[in-house]
Amino acid sequence: MKQKPMMYVVGVGCGDPKLLTNEAISIMAKADFFVSKDDYQKTFATYIAGRPVLFDPFMQLARYQKARHPELTDAEAGKKADAVYADNIQMLRKALKEGKVVALLEPGDPALYGGWRNWLSEYIPKEQLTVIAGMSSFSVANAVLGEYDLTRKPIIIAEPEELKANEPLIQAAAQNGSVIVVFMGLNRMKSLVPLLGRYFPPDTPLIIVYYAGIAGKERRIQTSLSKAKEVADAEKENFLGLIYIGRDLKDLEKPSR
Ligand SMILES: C[S@@+](CC[C@H](N)C(=O)[O-])C[C@H]1O[C@@H](n2cnc3c(N)ncnc32)[C@H](O)[C@@H]1O
Repeated sequence: MKQKPMMYVVGVGCGDPKLLTNEAISIMAKADFFVSKDDYQKTFATYIAGRPVLFDPFMQLARYQKARHPELTDAEAGKKADAVYADNIQMLRKALKEGKVVALLEPGDPALYGGWRNWLSEYIPKEQLTVIAGMSSFSVANAVLGEYDLTRKPIIIAEPEELKANEPLIQAAAQNGSVIVVFMGLNRMKSLVPLLGRYFPPDTPLIIVYYAGIAGKERRIQTSLSKAKEVADAEKENFLGLIYIGRDLKDLEKPSR
């Protein structure tokens, strides 16, 4: 049977091949081409199995061009990134025109803060784009909370800018005991902690789950809002972590694993 051209945005789990779904594996098995960031090309090499990787989407960003070519000025890096981006889109369109299947490997669940939305969707016709669910860091980090029952109250998933723009949401969470789970917050603790502190008392329990699902690295740190910045500053990692805050998180004592 002839395969329809398709761009699959494949959720590959939050950083460890054991979190791949059967569906992700079967899409990768039928892909003609891959689009993947550099480290995923190594992590998922077995599944890519020597087929061509068209590009790493991070190289469409000026700061990555600058890191690879430090001799460029900021303006030159920006120009280079724009040119790479235009070429990449051309490459994708050509592949789809030729009836190919392209698998873009995306972290976690592509529906939750998927970077692909910033650069891909507007260029690919809707009928040629399929999103494949993946195991989010959120699901995996929830498991790291062990027996704690997160669903006793509403759970709010947000990133710092959304919280900043919606303070009544924080206030309501602080009043009714909801848990807020913050994505992409580790490198913004300086503004995030005072923002949460406007509504949550300083001793409110706060948990950071680092490297959820990543074998040998996963870690859960239990602290309080007032100590959270100090705790996060003492860690090297400032990206791969989820922050949980809620007054009832104090039930949690020992790490589950
Ligand atoms: C651009 S978002 C992508 C989220 C992804 N789509 C998901 O569902 O996990 C990146 C943020 O997700 C969180 N994250 C991703 N992988 C993680 C992991 N293995 N452990 C903890 N947090 C992670 C961090 O907050 C990170 O800053």
